[in-house]
Amino acid sequence: MKEPVIVRVPGDKSISHRALLLASLARGESRIRGVLTGADVQSTAAALRKLGCDIPALERDAELCFRGLGLRGWRAPQDTIDCGNSGTTTRLLLGVLAAHPFRTVLTGDSSLRSRPMRRVTDPLGAAGARFEELGEPDRLPIAVTGGNLQPIRHDAPKASAQVKSALLLAGLNAGVQVQLSEPRLSRDHTERMLRAMHVSVVSLTASDGTARVSLTPGTEPAALDVTVPGDFSSAAFLLALGLAGSRPLTVQGVGLNPTRTGFLAVVRRMGGDVRIDALREEGGEPVGDVTAWPSELRGTTIAEDEIPSLIDEVPILAVLGTQVDGEIVVQGAAELRVKESDRLAVMANSLRALGCDAEEFADGIAVRGGLPVRAGRVQVHGDHRIAMAFGVLRALSGADITLDDPAVAAISFPGFWSDLRRLGEAR
Ligand code: S3P
Repeated sequence: MKEPVIVRVPGDKSISHRALLLASLARGESRIRGVLTGADVQSTAAALRKLGCDIPALERDAELCFRGLGLRGWRAPQDTIDCGNSGTTTRLLLGVLAAHPFRTVLTGDSSLRSRPMRRVTDPLGAAGARFEELGEPDRLPIAVTGGNLQPIRHDAPKASAQVKSALLLAGLNAGVQVQLSEPRLSRDHTERMLRAMHVSVVSLTASDGTARVSLTPGTEPAALDVTVPGDFSSAAFLLALGLAGSRPLTVQGVGLNPTRTGFLAVVRRMGGDVRIDALREEGGEPVGDVTAWPSELRGTTIAEDEIPSLIDEVPILAVLGTQVDGEIVVQGAAELRVKESDRLAVMANSLRALGCDAEEFADGIAVRGGLPVRAGRVQVHGDHRIAMAFGVLRALSGADITLDDPAVAAISFPGFWSDLRRLGEAR
């Protein structure tokens, strides 16, 4: 077997959003290395600039230094804030703005304007913030007017890091206690970063999987000094290529937070040979090098309780389904219908149009391997992860698959297409 090809992926999207946003809430000067320069994080940076924060241009591989405005230090923006395609930008901003005593209008692109917002505005409204839905119910554009919030208690019906983070940031800014639960622990980057900034956040996961987190206000967050690890969700596209292709590859410096790495457990169950080296901790997050070796893959069933840990990896797992002996079945994943696109429908329809055996059901998808992939054109519905998933399918199958909007990959993974070409040439 040849030596693994070495690659790196851009900075983690979730951590990059949080680093910018939380640094804007500290008073001192923060230092952030490895920030993602993709379109979603640019949306967060642009929004923070409109709210009075002096954030320099984002550049890959440069250290970003800026002073925050302190808690409740954001200033009323001159005009509407456009969150672009980014759900994380929108929902986290809504949380912080719920504690700021002025009116802000948030909107986004057509995909973001079709995504539900009451999951955040309902609990924030119950705590005392005011929301006006300026278009359709439960959708952007929304005006938020912050206020003096009551302590926040919320039992979230679904695991969602965006909801959890919005409520934690609202409580932090308002100076009120926050007590939350969710049925499974969603990604916990906010909690880890707040702790690194000396904010009191306590988390506990019960034996039935229910996760609780509480924040006690009273400490000004300390400035941040952080290196953003590579994005595991971006790495997953390349690891899939390593596992189902003919050449091993190593992705170096990837974030391995256990709330994010369900994909590794699933591919191992499928017979995939993935190994982790150089495991270390950076800025409160586990980081390592992940090598994927070409493997004979068999099918598996992914159950509801695994979904939060691989929520963004379902499109690439569906693509892997075309390469397995048997089938991959994903259950309990109805949340996929309200992501950047309806990922269950788009994946199943597009795979079928390419001759693959895929079936969509209300809360999941099944993809069976063994059929040849045909040439065809895929509409990616403006969804970066759909575009990248079909890019990997093209690389694996050699089928002439074209996409209506390949450039959308830059939302989370600038350089994806050149990396994929390089890896293709390396085999
Ligand atoms: C994210 C949380 C997840 C994930 C999204 C990023 C975050 O969404 O799908 O890509 O950074 O908090 P939910 O919180 O809606 O599950």
